[in-house]
Amino acid sequence: MSIELPQRNWHLLSRQEKYTELHQQISALLDPQVDDIANLANAAALLKEIFGWWWVGFYRVLNNKLVLGPFQGPVACTTIALGKGVCGKSWETQSTLVVPNVEEFPGHIACSAASKSEIVVPIVKADGQIWGVLDVDSEHLATFDELDQIELEKFCRTLASSL
Ligand code: SME
Repeated sequence: MSIELPQRNWHLLSRQEKYTELHQQISALLDPQVDDIANLANAAALLKEIFGWWWVGFYRVLNNKLVLGPFQGPVACTTIALGKGVCGKSWETQSTLVVPNVEEFPGHIACSAASKSEIVVPIVKADGQIWGVLDVDSEHLATFDELDQIELEKFCRTLASSL
């Protein structure tokens, strides 16, 4: 069985077209027979392959901290406290944070000096418990806007339904 993505010139697609593909592909990729790590590892690879962002990955809530989960990109901080950085703030407020310039975000945690803008989306399970966050970093300023927020929140709802 092959689970390869269809061959596409991803860079020629509009952002909306990429998100349409993303939603189709994630539904096919999520496997109810394996654990969260396996599914989220593929989810991170899917985001990286379609969008080519600098860093994409997950932090999960464990022992009252955010702990690094599956990701694609350079090595990253392993733990983040509640309220710290963009990820810790997204967890604390249970809201999506779009940061056009990370240098202007008070307390931003610079895992990579190349990261210039960021979006963090909380992953909330059906019972209302927060599982963790999706963190996406770009090496360009102001990469993310309302479209990314809407579509990545939808993506995280799909993920949450499998956790
Ligand atoms: N910049 C994040 C930390 C995680 S790394 O970017 C992968 C933050 O401020 O929470």
